[in-house]
Amino acid sequence: MTMMAIQWYPGHMAKAKREVTEQLKKVDVVFELVDARIPYSSRNPMIDDVIKQKPRVVILNKKDMTNLKEMSKWEHYFVEQGFYPVAVDAKHGKNLKGVEAAAIEATKDKFAKEQAKGLKPRAIRAMIVGIPNVGKSTLINKLARKNIAQTGNKPGVTKQQQWIKVGKVLQLLDTPGILWPKFEDELVGKKLSLTGAIKDSIVHLDDVAIFGLNFLIQHDIETLRQHYHISVEEDAAILEWFDAIGRRRGLLQKGNEVDYEAVIELLINDLRNAKMGTYCFDLYSEMKRDIAHENND
Ligand code: G4P
Repeated sequence: MTMMAIQWYPGHMAKAKREVTEQLKKVDVVFELVDARIPYSSRNPMIDDVIKQKPRVVILNKKDMTNLKEMSKWEHYFVEQGFYPVAVDAKHGKNLKGVEAAAIEATKDKFAKEQAKGLKPRAIRAMIVGIPNVGKSTLINKLARKNIAQTGNKPGVTKQQQWIKVGKVLQLLDTPGILWPKFEDELVGKKLSLTGAIKDSIVHLDDVAIFGLNFLIQHDIETLRQHYHISVEEDAAILEWFDAIGRRRGLLQKGNEVDYEAVIELLINDLRNAKMGTYCFDLYSEMKRDIAHENND
């Protein structure tokens, strides 16, 4: 199921935060789900404030769509933060075992203490938290397999939250906590749009396409040229690239003019669906200084 675009107002944000905070009391570990193409930009801006000291597994989902070398830098970053990162591809059910293993690691100390106090062994309880479209429902469904409880859609049947059994030791809350994405930063907005995290028009699509095109020119220009069968110079103006792609693909309007809207749509779709290659748009080396600043504020 795909989330409808949600407009986030301060009241909604406060309510979402309150709800997640309430659910957190029931769990031993939080699964913070992010998009592996933008492991930092797809985080909720107040996530540390919400999760606080609770053990945390950061699940980098959509691993099949990212650049693994760049992604691994973010895994290191998350380890430095004291979290337990694990990369998965929920859609194709890849590395789901890794989620269980990370949950065990993240709660090791807590359970050792419980055991020392003489408490009986029990299941690890977890919940998923993340912004819309990072793959929360997909992951829950995959982890649940046949264990998911059928609640039915009958009126009057209140849907109770349920614990889903995952593997031998893990229990997962069947409803994820949904938090808002970052809005303030324009670059983050472009990345969220480019990965399909936000599909409405908060960000201008021409800016999104230009960002994507510039990324390709800088990081994978040969693939870009081959994909569209064009041979534009590296330092050419962006409009030249648009023109070349539009003419090659026959995206023309009356009077043989290039239909820029169609080119923009094509570029965004090709990037969103990883038609050219798999990219990680959050570049650790470029972002680490800003991140250090944010954390010192
Ligand atoms: P949400 O609950 O966090 O809002 O996200 P949801 O599970 O609805 O997933 C959003 C989109 O991301 C869905 O695609 C889903 O199939 C896709 N997705 C989730 N995990 C992965 C993954 O690991 N790899 C890839 N490649 N895609 C993933 P959609 O196009 O919106 O829907 P559909 O066409 O799959 O039905």
